[in-house]
Amino acid sequence: VKFTVEDHEGTRKEIEAPDDMGLSLMEILKAYEYPILATCGGMALCATCHVEVLEGEDELGTASDAELDQLENLPEYFPTSRLACQVRISSILEGAIIKLRGEDN
Ligand code: FES
Repeated sequence: VKFTVEDHEGTRKEIEAPDDMGLSLMEILKAYEYPILATCGGMALCATCHVEVLEGEDELGTASDAELDQLENLPEYFPTSRLACQVRISSILEGAIIKLRGEDN
């Protein structure tokens, strides 16, 4: 599946990820060396994998209660905010645009 990632500087890049391995968006972003801390290892506890879905949010659906609990604790979040560790890579991501919103370090 191919989708676009916008980094903290606003640079967009199309990346490709296997959609049949059960990987999370967080794992793929880290594999592409985007600066995501993922301190909790994908347990929906740290919110450092915060992303905003700029396009494709209808296909992706809404955040779970566990995600919302974390997102609501952030100083800033958006109607289409998600935790990347809770988004499974699948064909529904095709053509999506994902903006990094987590901590930049
Ligand atoms: Fe910690 Fe996603 S990696 S909330």
